[in-house]
Amino acid sequence: MANVKGAELVRPCILGNDPNLPEQTNEELKKEFNLKEVLSFNCNENPLGTSPKAIAAIQEHAKDVFLYPDATCTELRRKVAKANGIDEMQVLFGNGADNVLLMLTETFLNEGEEMIVGSPHFFVYNTTVQLVGGKLVTVPLKNYTVDLKAIKAAITPKTKLIMVCNPNNPTGTIVKEDEVKEFMKDIPDNVIVIFDEAYAEFVDAADYPNSLQYVNAGKKVLVIRTLSKIFGMAGCRIGYIMGPEYLIELMRRTVEYFAVNRVAQDAALAAMDDEEFLHKTLAVNKEGKEYLTKEFTAMGFTCQPSYTNFIFVDFHRDAREIADKLRRQGLLIAVGGGWNCPTCSRISIGTMEMNKKLVAAFKEILA
Ligand SMILES: Cc1ncc(COP(=O)(O)O)c(C=O)c1O
Repeated sequence: MANVKGAELVRPCILGNDPNLPEQTNEELKKEFNLKEVLSFNCNENPLGTSPKAIAAIQEHAKDVFLYPDATCTELRRKVAKANGIDEMQVLFGNGADNVLLMLTETFLNEGEEMIVGSPHFFVYNTTVQLVGGKLVTVPLKNYTVDLKAIKAAITPKTKLIMVCNPNNPTGTIVKEDEVKEFMKDIPDNVIVIFDEAYAEFVDAADYPNSLQYVNAGKKVLVIRTLSKIFGMAGCRIGYIMGPEYLIELMRRTVEYFAVNRVAQDAALAAMDDEEFLHKTLAVNKEGKEYLTKEFTAMGFTCQPSYTNFIFVDFHRDAREIADKLRRQGLLIAVGGGWNCPTCSRISIGTMEMNKKLVAAFKEILA
């Protein structure tokens, strides 16, 4: 870090983040290996695309983009509030859940204060904590699942935030209702617990916790959701957070005024009404999950039980080498050095057509 050019000009904490540098585009990849298509199994996007109702809304409202958007997403807040039985002032939208995560650390985390998270974890927690000079305290997962007991034991006087990613990215596992209930007892009063539920809509377990009950019970709890996954709107950038009104109001002091663009708001309103697309997404995901789990298991890989639209797979051999061979065929899977699991990959579930192409490529590579 010491030899970064211009280091003396910046806030020292930003030097802890790597610069976000351009990578090879899919078009460049196609050209390099003479490929017809590139299929993404590495970003947990919706393989069915976007809700047709959202697309129609985007087309209808495209003519309005000369106008600034509604700065506080009034209609969307009302819709989310109604669906969750809370007040509209308990909801705050951002330019994707990523943006919400940044508002969170900007609002609550003083320099040197800690956010605890189970690890391996979603990489954005690192960058958002680092940007405000906070400290990310990582607690190893137990059986690939967030270990709430160990997280509780890691609380120190410097702890301000606890991030419970449920289901967890990258492992796809969940912590259950009774564990969360136990965990929520005796959390120090100055600590805020956040449930990142980016994949909540995919969970089909009866014992998946209803985290809003803790908000309703007056706890310092915040709940994050996104439209990127189930509604297929990753490119629009829109996500939100729910919680006690006073915590949400504090977060409102850090917002970029017009963070959520008009098109995203119009599309989100339509997407949230598209039950048909939602059910289709869930059905395709379920079928794909069963198929991929069966095929990967037959190949000798170990799959974690997934409650999401991706599967965490242990190849029991160098995952980067496999990912690279797949990449040359235009099939992208996620491998993460930072996960401390060099034989594992997070593989998004595609349509059956995509999944079959991926399985065929795996079989070829293993042969
Ligand atoms: C656990 C988790 N939280 C938050 C996000 C960010 O979602 P968004 O696309 O709304 O920024 C993601 C995206 O992959 C995620 O996996």
